[in-house]
Amino acid sequence: MSQLLDGKKTAQEIRDLLKGRVARLKDKGVVPGLSVTLVGEDPASKVYVGAKDAAAKEVGMHATTHRLPAGISEADLRAHLIAQNNDAAVHGILLQLPLPKHLPEESLLDLIAAEKDVDGFHPVSLGNVMLGRPGFKPCTPWGVQVLLRRYGISLKGKHVVIVGRSNIVGKPLANLLVQKADDADATVTVCHSGTKDLARYTRDADVLVAAIGRGEFITADMVKDGAVVVDVGMNRVDDAALPKGYRLCGDVDFKAVEPKAASITPVPGGVGPMTIAMLLSNTVWSAERAAGIESAQDPFAN
Ligand SMILES: NC(=O)c1ccc[n+]([C@@H]2O[C@H](COP(=O)([O-])OP(=O)(O)OC[C@H]3O[C@@H](n4cnc5c(N)ncnc54)[C@H](OP(=O)(O)O)[C@@H]3O)[C@@H](O)[C@H]2O)c1
Repeated sequence: MSQLLDGKKTAQEIRDLLKGRVARLKDKGVVPGLSVTLVGEDPASKVYVGAKDAAAKEVGMHATTHRLPAGISEADLRAHLIAQNNDAAVHGILLQLPLPKHLPEESLLDLIAAEKDVDGFHPVSLGNVMLGRPGFKPCTPWGVQVLLRRYGISLKGKHVVIVGRSNIVGKPLANLLVQKADDADATVTVCHSGTKDLARYTRDADVLVAAIGRGEFITADMVKDGAVVVDVGMNRVDDAALPKGYRLCGDVDFKAVEPKAASITPVPGGVGPMTIAMLLSNTVWSAERAAGIESAQDPFAN
């Protein structure tokens, strides 16, 4: 029986800590503002945006979701983002991905002011992560790191194998965990679709992180006994027996892997809620910096 790494519970603990910081800001006349932009009607994105909006409001922040039509022109979306950059009541700007195909994600993300980049996707934020400097950290990788630390799982000298090299998960996570720091100091291997004999690497992992986007791809034979398993995946798999017609699953075959693992994250209730908690944390930190309040970036340091 493995230990369940409960992201839902840990995320609630973070939100509870943030409520105190939001109250302190309000005493100074500042309400942390989060601006979320959703372009089009992607069903999964709508769910994520709704969850972010609700979580922001729960901690007392001012959250606005801008719902823009799928056919919006690049020029109009650029103008909208520039307006968010220039709005002093907005401390964090989030552009929900994926965007409709005609819109260039990269250059639009680059347009978000680095000092409001609470998603941590701007090249400046990612550069700071790579250099181990303070700055906004991408929410999902940071959530993974904080969750492991909260459960007392030391990464020092451990072999962390990350399957997936996306700019939003795999690459920044590797950069966070390789730093010379108490909650990092791991030896990191990053695998991807070009990796030959993937299982050779995953079976050597003390900590295995799956960020692939393929339902139940990591099977029990790919995991070492006693490994820590972090499942970032969030996949919809058709299931006609369910009222919705689908079920959610991670990138790890949870039922088969759980008995072998020392610790494992569930899906849902693992990395997903942590991602949202870190987004709120980045936004509160941004508002504190704008208000000239000295504060720690780490939500558990307060
Ligand atoms: N819980 C959360 O908050 C959260 C946040 C973000 C993402 N997610 C989920 O996490 C998953 C990954 O997201 P992402 O945005 O990082 O996905 P992505 O951009 O599609 O990247 C997937 C990565 O997996 C690699 N890959 C694909 N097939 C593989 C294979 N057969 N063997 C080895 N590697 C393979 C790809 O390799 P190549 O680079 O070679 O193509 C790529 O690096 C998705 O399920 C997503 O929904 C969850």
